[in-house]
Formats: sequence, structure tokens, C-alpha cells
Amino acid sequence: MNNATFQNVISLAKQKGFIFPGSEIYGGLANSWDYGPLGVELKNNIKQAWWHTFVHSRQDIVGLDAALLMNSKVWDASGHTQAFTDPLVEDSKTHERYRLDHLLEDNDIDVKDMDFDDMKKALQKHDIKSPKGNALTEPKHFNLMFETSIGATQEKKDVVYLRPETAQAMFVDFKNVVASTRLKLPFGIAQIGKAFRNEITPGNYIFRTREFEQMEIEYFVKQSDWKQNFETWIENIHQWLECLGVDKGKISLLEVPDGERAHYSERTVDFEYDFPFGRKELYGLAYRGDYDLQQHAKHSGEKLVFTDPHTGEKLVPHTIEPSFGVDRTLLVVLLEAYCEEEVGGDKRTILKFPAHLAPYKIAVLPLVSNDKKLVAQAQEIFASILKSYPALYDDSGTIGRRYRRNDEIGTPLCLTVDFDTLKDNSVTVRDRDSMEQARITTDKIFETITSCIQGHSVL
Ligand code: GAP
Repeated sequence: MNNATFQNVISLAKQKGFIFPGSEIYGGLANSWDYGPLGVELKNNIKQAWWHTFVHSRQDIVGLDAALLMNSKVWDASGHTQAFTDPLVEDSKTHERYRLDHLLEDNDIDVKDMDFDDMKKALQKHDIKSPKGNALTEPKHFNLMFETSIGATQEKKDVVYLRPETAQAMFVDFKNVVASTRLKLPFGIAQIGKAFRNEITPGNYIFRTREFEQMEIEYFVKQSDWKQNFETWIENIHQWLECLGVDKGKISLLEVPDGERAHYSERTVDFEYDFPFGRKELYGLAYRGDYDLQQHAKHSGEKLVFTDPHTGEKLVPHTIEPSFGVDRTLLVVLLEAYCEEEVGGDKRTILKFPAHLAPYKIAVLPLVSNDKKLVAQAQEIFASILKSYPALYDDSGTIGRRYRRNDEIGTPLCLTVDFDTLKDNSVTVRDRDSMEQARITTDKIFETITSCIQGHSVL
């Protein structure tokens, strides 16, 4: 997708109520975005599909919804207080801030194997200036966690952080989850929720923001089983991407090399996607050893072990962590769905969402809006659909215009109620992608919608 088409996607998303710039009437807040009436539906459908795939349809994964503010010791134990930093430089005149690694890359310097000191040296050696042409300040480590404080006094002991990932709660609640369930290894704990990072260079629309949502799983295994489980997770993530309708050709797996992985991780794989602005990380899959449970055991003084119900053996499980960004998923779903076609000399814009993700499953279109009997019949059909599926009632403009409007918001089916409906209870169903139409009786409406949502072609 070229940049012009990407701009069309952004503009359609705003116009149709998917994504608005945050705080717009106050001049905006850089890189913050609001999900509008259709955006929130799409986002909820993505989260529900994920929960269904990884929690409800499996026996080995349970859910969690932990508090967003946690005891600050959690972040000491996880290493975030100390090491969750990005290398930062500042323009000495404008005071604009840049990520040092990004700046070096923009100057064609390969930072892959560089640590902080190497980057510092490269900055001096190549005499790199800020993009505005000014001198840069000394690089420093910038902690990405947003800090706030509990209560009225702002003392050090009251400091808390907005969580930078959902993950740590699964370790902190490990003991309670194990004690309250009858899970056996391997098992996982899943969570969906907001995370906050004070990114130095957010951008690329909703790709990198300071407030975002994650869907994460900590999957606990016996150490001897991690390799096999890791491979299964690669498969699981591919299947998830397929369920989102993502083109396989746009996904690549990056084996994160030694030196770039956390010291405790023997393997990390990034799932990358070919975004209009380049190939970038969509999801991460990391083997984290027993690092997190050991760290939290050490810092909390609690025993975080699993007792094998058969042998009585006590062990500290190892963890595999699949981590999915909700907003990046939504961006990919939007990009994959966006399509422009020419029909009879006119441009047709379509969002070809998989039906299970579409905000509305069907639109009910009365042929005319001034015939009492016909309108009553259409309203009755609409009301009965609404009991089970999100649907839209659209009675303004020509039928052709109404079809186009629904194509633009990704409604997979349109149903026209006309004068024949009053005689024989038949309606016209029209498919968004093929534009094919068929006549069905009203008693077949539900099964038509259901098979469409299940991904079957209904016409
Ligand atoms: N617990 C592991 C973890 O948080 P991460 O690679 O830092 O790993 C996981 O983040 C996923 O969260 C990413 O693959 C991406 O989908 C999403 N993500 C991370 N930072 C983000 C940001 N600033 N804006 C939007 N999504 C982000």
C-alpha cells in the first residue's frame, strides 16, 4: 500500500467514525487517538475473537483482569524501574527529543549490535546533528514509565507507575491463580488491558502511541518442554493471523539475535508486518525462562512454585510469552480490509473485514421510506435481527447509495425489503464483496447471517 492510499485509509477511518484524533477540538494531543462508534465495535470484536481463541476455546488458559496501578516494587522486581529505558538525545536549540537509535538509523548507521556506549561513540564519530541541523545534547537513558503518585502528598513512597505492559500481573497473581484453579502444567494466564509508555518518538498513526492496549499470555511450562511449546505458539499466532484475514505474504518472522534479546531469554521471535511505512513489529513471542517468577519470589519473599499433583514435585515453571498489541492488530485489520475498485466507471471503496470482525453484520434497507406497511415490515425484521446481531437500519438515498455506504464501513450483508416482501415474505440479500444478490425468505435471514459470520459464502 502506498502512502497516498494509507492517507485515504486514515481519512475514511475518521469520516466513518472508526478513529478520531484525540482532543481534536482543543487542537489535539500529539499521537493520541480516540476510537469512534465503529472503531470501538471493531476493537471489541478483535478482543472478543482473541479471548475466544486463546481462553474460551481452550482448557489450559484462564483469564485475569488485574489492577492497572500496582505496588512499585513490582517494577523493581521486573527490572522496569532500572532498565526500561530508551536512549534519548535532545536538540540543543529546539529541545525536541529523539531516540538515538532511530536517529542513527536515519543516518544509515546499523545499530543492530550496538549498546548504549557504542551508539554514543557513533554519534560523536559521525558528528550527527538533529534533523533541524542543530547540535545534540549528551545521550541519556530515558525511562519510559509514566510516574504518578497515590494520595495528596507527593512523597517517594507514594510513587506508582501506569503499567508499561499487562504482563507482570500474571506473575504477581501466579500464586492466587494456581491456588484457586485446578490447572496442570502447561497452562497460561491471559489478560487484555491498557498499557502506557512515554515513547520518545511515537507515530505512524496508531502504530506507536503512549497509551495502547495489549493482549498478553504468560504460558507456564516445564523447562524441558519449552522448545516444543514455543514452536506450538508460533503456529498458534499464525492461525490467529489467518482468523483476522491477514495476507500471509505480509508477515515475516524475525529471530531476535543474541545481544538484542533480554539476557534471560534464549529465544525471541518478532512477528513483523509490511506496514505502508515499512516492515515493523506486530507481535512478540519470547521465552523468558524462570526469570520473572524467580525475581518476584525474591523481591516479595513469597514462594512462587508449582506442585505437581501426581508426583508432589515442586518446581518453578518457565514462561513463554506471546504478546499482541490491540491497536496494531486493528491497524493491520483496517489495512488488509481497505480496497478501492472501479464499478461502472465509479470508485467503490470497501472495507472487506472478515464478517466476524465487522462492526455491523447486516444493514436493513426498506426500498421506500413512505409506505407504512413496507416500513413496518422492515422495522419488524430489523428489530428481530437486533436481538442477536449488531445491525443498521438505513432508509435514506437510493439503494445503490446505501449499498456503497455500507461497503465503506464493511457491513458484509445488505437486506432489501420491498413490495414483494409484503406478498411472499422474501427479501433481497446482497453480498458486500461479490455484490451478488439473491432472494431468500425471511425465515432464512438468521442462518444466512450466521453462516456469513462463520466465514461461509452465502450467495
Ligand atoms: N510483555 C512484553 C511486551 O510488552 P513489547 O514488545 O514491548 O513486549 C508487545 O510489546 C506488543 O505490544 C508489541 O508487539 C506491540 O504489538 C504492542 N506495543 C508495544 N508498544 C506499543 C506502543 N507504543 N504503541 C502501540 N502498541 C505497542
